[in-house]
Amino acid sequence: NQGKIVVIGSMSMDLVVTSPKRPLAGETVIGEELHIVPGGKGANQAVAARRAGAEVEMVGAVGNDQFGRMVRENFRKEGVSITHLKQLPGMSTGTAHIVLAEGDNSIVIVQGANKEVTPEQVEEASELLLSASIVLMQLEIPLETVCYAANLCKQHNIPVILNPAPANALPPSLIEQVTFLTPNEHECRTLFGEQAEVEAILRKYPNKLILTEGEKGVRYFDGEKISRIPALSVKVTDTTGAGDTFNGVLAVALAKGLSLEEAIRHACAAASLSVTKLGAQGGMPAWDEIKKALQSRNEI
Ligand code: RIB
Ligand code: NA
Repeated sequence: NQGKIVVIGSMSMDLVVTSPKRPLAGETVIGEELHIVPGGKGANQAVAARRAGAEVEMVGAVGNDQFGRMVRENFRKEGVSITHLKQLPGMSTGTAHIVLAEGDNSIVIVQGANKEVTPEQVEEASELLLSASIVLMQLEIPLETVCYAANLCKQHNIPVILNPAPANALPPSLIEQVTFLTPNEHECRTLFGEQAEVEAILRKYPNKLILTEGEKGVRYFDGEKISRIPALSVKVTDTTGAGDTFNGVLAVALAKGLSLEEAIRHACAAASLSVTKLGAQGGMPAWDEIKKALQSRNEI
């Protein structure tokens, strides 16, 4: 099944508030606007992959509430298949509470139904998993479920991209099993230690560890040298979901058969484009837009 991407992960509604200032502990500030938009790292990566042109299936869970209906409606609108999306009675749909202030975001997530994505649910979806070109995962569902899925994929030679976000320590066996690991700088320190020297860590995981460094682009070790793939220079509106765009598009580009270097180049460009619009999914580009941006780089 050439080109099918399966995402196992979270889906949420993001409650985004823009504010001139981030509140300190005990402080109240008057904000500006409220935006209620679809988010959650799993859903974002699924939408990024879909916009980039792949067939995408999302495995996850929502609650039986208004936000759950909004999440499903968004997948329908984007064309992401949800035959393995569960609606759990008595649970609330995941939410992310996001403050955009002083040029950066702060986020509190409430997992809700995302916490109930179990190894059993992955087992039920095993046929789907085994039909995937690439499986994409993050860490907003239970780690146990991620480990179970990674193990199943490994047994059947299905490539896995694990985006280890939000930051969490991981069992070495999981790091071993996945094909690609895509932390940002902060997540990389959580995984490998505050003291660890970045280039030394990259060299330990050739063509596997892909370090995303925001506007500085991406670094990875290609087996011979440490390569840096630049981001595009853009006007930043909202960096929320940039990492998700990177991962979703990386999966599509690899499934299309691009080399790792070219796949990273496309994923970086897509992430750059995504930050020009508000909302995690706002600004996620189509494949043509990514191509165009790469041709006219730095003229956006
Ligand atoms: O990666 C961005 C996402 O993380 C947001 O959409 C929000 O849901 C948070 O979980
Ligand atoms: Na965006």
